Amino acid sequence: MKAFRPRQNFSARIVALLCALGLVFGQAQFVFAQTRTISVQVDRPGGAIPRTLFGLFFEDINFGADGGLYPERVKNRSFEFPNPMMGWKQVERGGAKGGLQVYDLTTESDAPNSHYLRIKVETPGEGFGVSNEGFRGVGVEQGAEYIFSVTARRVDGAPSALRLEVEDANGKQIGTAKVSGFTSDWKKYTATLRATGTDAKAHVNLIMDGSGALDVDMVSLFPKETWGNRPNGLRADLVKLLKEMKPGFLRFPGGCIVEGRYLEQRYQWKTTIGDPEDRRLIVNRWNTEFNWRLTPDYYQSFGLGYYEYFQLAEDIGAEPLPIMNCGMACQFNSAELAPMEDLDHYIQDALDLIEFANGPVTSEWGKKRAAMGHPAPFNLKMIGVGNEQWGPQYVERYREFAKALKAKHPEISLVGAAGPSPDDERFHYLWGKMREMNADLVDEHFYMAPKWFRDNVGRYDNYPRTGPKVFAGEYAAQSVGIASPDNRNNWETAMSEAAFITGIERNADVVRMSSYAPLFGHVEAWQWTPNMIWFDNLRSYGTPNYYVQKTFSVHKGTQILPVMLDGSEKNGQNDLFTSASFDAGTNEVVLKVVNTAPSESQVRITLAGAKRLGKQGKVFVLTAPDLKAENSLDAPTKVSPVEKPLAVTSGEFAYTFLPNSLTVIRVGVGANQAKR
Ligand code: AHR
Repeated sequence: MKAFRPRQNFSARIVALLCALGLVFGQAQFVFAQTRTISVQVDRPGGAIPRTLFGLFFEDINFGADGGLYPERVKNRSFEFPNPMMGWKQVERGGAKGGLQVYDLTTESDAPNSHYLRIKVETPGEGFGVSNEGFRGVGVEQGAEYIFSVTARRVDGAPSALRLEVEDANGKQIGTAKVSGFTSDWKKYTATLRATGTDAKAHVNLIMDGSGALDVDMVSLFPKETWGNRPNGLRADLVKLLKEMKPGFLRFPGGCIVEGRYLEQRYQWKTTIGDPEDRRLIVNRWNTEFNWRLTPDYYQSFGLGYYEYFQLAEDIGAEPLPIMNCGMACQFNSAELAPMEDLDHYIQDALDLIEFANGPVTSEWGKKRAAMGHPAPFNLKMIGVGNEQWGPQYVERYREFAKALKAKHPEISLVGAAGPSPDDERFHYLWGKMREMNADLVDEHFYMAPKWFRDNVGRYDNYPRTGPKVFAGEYAAQSVGIASPDNRNNWETAMSEAAFITGIERNADVVRMSSYAPLFGHVEAWQWTPNMIWFDNLRSYGTPNYYVQKTFSVHKGTQILPVMLDGSEKNGQNDLFTSASFDAGTNEVVLKVVNTAPSESQVRITLAGAKRLGKQGKVFVLTAPDLKAENSLDAPTKVSPVEKPLAVTSGEFAYTFLPNSLTVIRVGVGANQAKR
C-alpha cells in the first residue's frame, strides 16, 4: 500500500500562489477564501440514533480470553492440553528426587477434565515439584492478593503441604501460600497469597513438602480483585476500558472462533457453562492460523464462557449479541459443512441458548442460569446466524435457522452474514438473499486501507431505507494490508476510521450497529493486528482507534441532525468530514468534525434554528503529533481526547479545526428544540 499523503487543501494552494505573485487582496477577501462553512440543521431532526450504534466485537484471538480478559495466571491448569505438560516443567532443588506422571481418567469416567498430575517425592531436598510459565509470564503486583487453589488427593506416604511460590524473572520469591491436610479423596484446597513484588513476567512453582505422592488438578492462581470482585471474574482494567466506552452491544464469541477450522472445533456454548472445572477444553483455532505468528500453546479453557459473556454485557450496559455456528466451519479453512439433515442439532443449540438467556428458572436451561447465580433473565434480543459465511450453502442453512427461530421466538432479531468483503460478488449475492429472507440485520465486514475509509464515507447514503438494517460488525483500517503482522494502530488509521464513522452516524437510520475488530491483543502473544486494546500481564492501553470509537460512542446523541458542509449535503469534501446529533439527555447539539488535512481549517459554524443557546459549550479534541503516532504501555494516553470550554455568544461562530484531528463540539440548545 502506498504511504498516505494528505491532499493539500485546494484553497490553500490558490492563496499560496496569489501571495507568491504579489497579488495582495483585501484582508476580508483573504479570510473569505479560507473560511469553510458547516451548518447544523438543529430544527430539522432526522431519525433516532439507536443505543446500539457503537458496540464491541469480542473474539478469543490474540490471547483475548485465557491470558487476557480471563485472568487465570496458570496456563494449562488442568493438564488438558494435548501435550498435558505444556507450560509446566519439573523443579528439583538441592538434592531433591522425585517424578512426575500425568494420568487420564477417561477409563474411569468421561469427565471433560480427565487428566491430572501425580507428583511423587522420594527425597524432598530443597524442594521438588513443578513450575508453570503462565501466559508469556505470570503477572503479579506488590500488595495485591491472589487465590491459590488446587484439587488434590493423597496417594502415598505423608506429603505434608503444597506450596505455591511466585518467583520473579530473576528467580526472587515474591509471594507464597500453602495448603495442607490431604486425604485420599479429591478435594479443593485454597489459600491466599499476597505478592511482595511486582513483575509481569514471573512464574509459579508448586512444591510438595514431605515425601510420598499427591495427585493434583485445577492448579490455579487467580487475582482476588476482578471486575465486581467475583470469583472466576474478569480482569478489572480491561473491563473498565470497555465500560468507559459506553458500548451499546457486546458481540461474542467471535469471529472465526465460532466456526472452528473443523466443525468439531466450533464454539459450542453448552460446554462453556457450569463449574469451570467441568468445561471441556478445546484448541483455539488461531493457534496455528498464521505461520508467521504461531502460538501452539493457545487453547480455550472456557473459564470465560457464555454465562460470563452475558454477565459482562450486563455489567457494561451492552446488549448481548451471541453469534451461533450455523453448521459451517470456517470457509477460509476446511469449509466443512453439517449436512442439512443434521442441522436440527445446531438449531436446537440456538433455541436452548434463548432459553438459557431469557427462560424462566423453571425451564431446563433457565434453571442452569439461575443455578449459576442469575435467576433474572439476561434479556437477549438478538442472535447472529453464522459468522463470516458466504455462498448458497449459507443461504440454505440461514433459511432453516430463521424458520425455526422466528416460529418460536419472533421477538429475537436475526443477524445474517454478508461474507468477508465490503462489496464483492459474495457480498451482493448475500445482501440480495438477506433481503429476500427478511433478515433483521446484515453483518458487513471491512478490513481495508485507511484511504478506503476516507473514500467511502458516503457508503450508506444511498442504501435502501427499507428491508434489513446494517450491522457494520467487523472493521478496522489496515495500515499495510489485511492481517499483515506489520499493521499499526496509528493515528492515520484511527483518523480515517473517524472520517468513515461520520458517515455511519449520518446514516444511523440504516446502520443500527457497528464495531471495530478485533478487540484485544496481548503484546507478546497476538496473532492478528491491529487491535483496539493492547495489554501485557499487568497493564493495558487503548489505541488511537479505541479513543475514536469511545469519542463517537460517548457523544453519539439521540437524534440525527442534518448537516451541510460548504453549502452541500455531501459529506467529506476537501478533507473535512462531519456529522451531528441532538442529545435529548443533555439538550445539546453534538457536532463532530474530522479534519484530515495537514493544515488548520477555519470554519464558520451555524446552528440553524437553535433557540435557547447555552453560553458555555464544550470541545473535545483528539489529535496526534503525526500520522504515525501510537499509544503504548508506557504512553497509554499519548493520543487521547482533550476537553476545553467553548464560549458561545450566538448561533453562528467561528472555529479553527486542528490539522489531522477529530473534534466534538457540544452546545446546549434547550429542551425539545430538535423534536419534530
Ligand atoms: O477479526 C479477526 C477475524 O476477521 C474474524 O475472526 C473473522 O470474522 C474475520 O475474518
